[in-house]
Amino acid sequence: MKMLKPAFTAGAAAAFAFVLLAQSSFTGRWVAEITTPNGDKRETTFFLTQSGDRLSGAVLNGWRMQNISEGKITGDEAVWTVVVRFGQQERRIEYHARLRGDQLTVSLPGFGRAAAPRDVVARRISTDGAPIHPFANLPKATIPALHDVPDNGLARTPPMGWNSWNHFNRRIDDKTVREIADAMVASGMKDAGYLYVNIDDTWQGERDSKGVLQPNKKFPDMKALADYVHRKGLKLGIYSSPGPRTCANYEGSYNHEEIDARTWATWGIDYLKYDWCSASEVYKPSDMQAVYQRMGDALRAAGRPIVYSLCQYGLEHVETWGPRVGGNLWRTTGDISDNWRSMSDIGFNRQLGLEKYAGPGHWNDPDMLEVGNGGMSAAEYRTHMSLWAILAAPLLAGNDIRTMTAETREILCNREVIAIDQDKAGHQGYRISKEGEAEVWAKPLAGGDWAVGLFNRGESPVRITVRWSDLKLSGRRKVRDLWAHEDMGAFENFSAEVQPHGVTLVRVAR
Ligand code: GLA
Repeated sequence: MKMLKPAFTAGAAAAFAFVLLAQSSFTGRWVAEITTPNGDKRETTFFLTQSGDRLSGAVLNGWRMQNISEGKITGDEAVWTVVVRFGQQERRIEYHARLRGDQLTVSLPGFGRAAAPRDVVARRISTDGAPIHPFANLPKATIPALHDVPDNGLARTPPMGWNSWNHFNRRIDDKTVREIADAMVASGMKDAGYLYVNIDDTWQGERDSKGVLQPNKKFPDMKALADYVHRKGLKLGIYSSPGPRTCANYEGSYNHEEIDARTWATWGIDYLKYDWCSASEVYKPSDMQAVYQRMGDALRAAGRPIVYSLCQYGLEHVETWGPRVGGNLWRTTGDISDNWRSMSDIGFNRQLGLEKYAGPGHWNDPDMLEVGNGGMSAAEYRTHMSLWAILAAPLLAGNDIRTMTAETREILCNREVIAIDQDKAGHQGYRISKEGEAEVWAKPLAGGDWAVGLFNRGESPVRITVRWSDLKLSGRRKVRDLWAHEDMGAFENFSAEVQPHGVTLVRVAR
């Protein structure tokens, strides 16, 4: 009895202290399980430390560790802020939470497009609030010395096709990809030049005992899927990250670059989008070129022609080294959204000055098309398509082409506009004038013609003029309207009344 008494007392005191702590303090590691729109389970961890009425720590979403920049506690309620950086964009996210013993009810901001905030209950799994990164114990990758990866000879004109992300997001599977391939053929998109059917994030499963990455249950047999797509005369694309995890927190290619490239070659993959994502947690920004080069080399060694698409949001002046790592295209900005503001900001503001870096085999990528996704008017989608064509941008439709309207199909399949994008000379167009909200963009074409877009970014109709002197032309030149499919006649300079957010896209004969 005598021996037991002190131990009993200490144990009781510890238990009492824990209950007190649990009831009165936010300090600890808290885990909430969240179900994604995909049906997957995902964890968010809150590493919290309370000191008086201040709260510090971090939030771990998948692999994204975000430090709390400000946190305040009032009674059993807390509010904290994290700043999330994505490419050049920055977003402040505010969390509100209420403490009830060992349960923390956290009001999470909405994830993904149009997702509403929701409450989740987090459990305290430790009374230690110190942040621990999930990559803390990963083996370090070697950073190869820089060299030039030879041109793979692909993408002599900007790649055309379709990608799952903009419309389907995480809800993409084998059946849908097959139906999209069918629709590419049936809708006439294939005949118009759209060739690549690209699966974006969320196809990945686990690695097997040999390290070979397997697809998840949504994609039972990638080789069979590639065969199906190939039988339609189309090509299949896939997605990965140089980081340990993809943006959507699926398995990435970190330290498995060579084996993954071989796996994709065996399946019959024709296109890889390689997205920086969690690589930001394991590499320095200045490692980026070497890291992308490693996959460029791996694809080459895998021995199958695979278009190599770099996705790192335009960081580290990618346009200056994209081709040297074997890249056929590189994103120039953060993600596009299906609205005028996002599309016009990316298309008009963020491509300025990049034209000298584009050419056959290597293209600036202002991101995938939103045409037909419903967030813009038909006039705005025509502006989107016209601008991307003038920019010699990759044309990757991002809509549900199984159910698209005739109007969407006409915008995507306008052969005369596609011909501007796909022009053999491979020049990226540029802005030649701007007056208020009126911008004139022009692209020199093979043989000496010009494509000219008269764009109205404003809210009321405006008359816009293109002067031949800006195109190094003179005299009367024939003008054809590429949306009306009409020869307009011959003009000395050309003006058109352009509707708000609209475009007049013309081809001017040399
Ligand atoms: C990033 C890319 C997007 C898409 C998602 C998938 O945000 O920029 O285009 O691939 O990841 O998670």
